[in-house]
Amino acid sequence: MRLLIENAYVIPVAGDQFQGDIAVGDGRIIHLGPAGSVPEAFTPDETLDATGMAATPGLVNSHTHAAMTLFRGYADDLPLMEWLGEKIWPVEAVLTGEDIYRGSLLAGLEMLKSGTTTFADQYFEMDQVARAVEEIGLRASLCRGLIGIAPHADQALAESRDFIRNWHGAANGRITAMLGPHAPYTCPPSYLEKVLAAADELGVGLHIHLSETRTEIEQIQTEYGCSPIELMEKVNLFERPVLAAHCVHLSEADMEILAEKRVGVAHNPQSNMKLGSGIAPVARMLAAGITVGIGTDGAASNNDLNMVEEMRTAALLQKVGLENPTVLPAGQVLEMATVGGAKALGLAEQIGTLEVGKRADIVLWNLNQAHLCPLHNVQAHLVYSAGRADADTVIVDGRILMRGRRVLTVDEETILREAGCSARALVTRASSA
Ligand code: NI
Repeated sequence: MRLLIENAYVIPVAGDQFQGDIAVGDGRIIHLGPAGSVPEAFTPDETLDATGMAATPGLVNSHTHAAMTLFRGYADDLPLMEWLGEKIWPVEAVLTGEDIYRGSLLAGLEMLKSGTTTFADQYFEMDQVARAVEEIGLRASLCRGLIGIAPHADQALAESRDFIRNWHGAANGRITAMLGPHAPYTCPPSYLEKVLAAADELGVGLHIHLSETRTEIEQIQTEYGCSPIELMEKVNLFERPVLAAHCVHLSEADMEILAEKRVGVAHNPQSNMKLGSGIAPVARMLAAGITVGIGTDGAASNNDLNMVEEMRTAALLQKVGLENPTVLPAGQVLEMATVGGAKALGLAEQIGTLEVGKRADIVLWNLNQAHLCPLHNVQAHLVYSAGRADADTVIVDGRILMRGRRVLTVDEETILREAGCSARALVTRASSA
């Protein structure tokens, strides 16, 4: 399918902004340039008039737990361990594969409608998540969450291997897979060794929660006499590609390790705020040359999967935390939410910028609205003024998934109805278990 996007305000993220056209063929960007510059030999099957719209790379949600949309609003305003132990884990214990499929469809729909084209997910029953991703048409990096101290830890690792063999590179390469050791406090070094052996055997990276709360720092310090980052260096985790969620509490030594080992960090400002975890030193990480993407975390600790809002929160939180309005300017935040996330997920060769040769993951934002007028600085608008509903058209792998806010790949009403049914039944089962 050959697609022509005409007369957009193009923010490629790599290179200068311009008013012009983008040509897409075989799922890739084959040309972009000023209006009328597309070669005459290019004959599109479909043309999108993008007058009054900005074209950006699709947003990359670099850390989430998609199916947790089913728990949105179920348990709020509690301390992390009480929230997990008394509320989240009991409902997770009665989740079925079908629930996870429905929750993932709901999450995918929400992300698609807010301009997110790729997400990194850590959960369980990942076949069901992959099924949902395939159906909606998004791109995703998926991993089964592994809890090394749980009773069936080895079985979970075996499931991970099967999942990776079945799905890594599936859906025309839109689905990639990683291994997902949950965190240093749930995966002791002896278990991590097995996970790392599997990563090497399968040739995949790792997606882990690191240095999220002060409690975690204290616990690892007491048990191992070092920080979580130092512990992960000791077990050689960072000798493979690693996507590390959170990294809120870091020493200078931790930051040197993250930079030297080229660890990709997923910054989740709203989840960190809501759970009272702290403010990640994002400006310092970026200054140290660390790759940082932006994520929403799961909808039980956010409570939505809105990357537009997450970009604004990331910028504002650093500014207020450091009492410095110059840190994280809009352009840098947009980079984090696109190419930063792509790098952190190991996908920067395919996505993250609008460049010839990259996969065509493109969002058209409707600028013709009161809250985005006048157009002094479109990049600043996307970070400081825009809302998720400004995402008008979403293209992934050259395929239009949403046009004029109408979702073309799945039935919205069915997804909402079935997710609602699943969520109600879950709470009933959990309370009678
Ligand atoms: Ni998480």
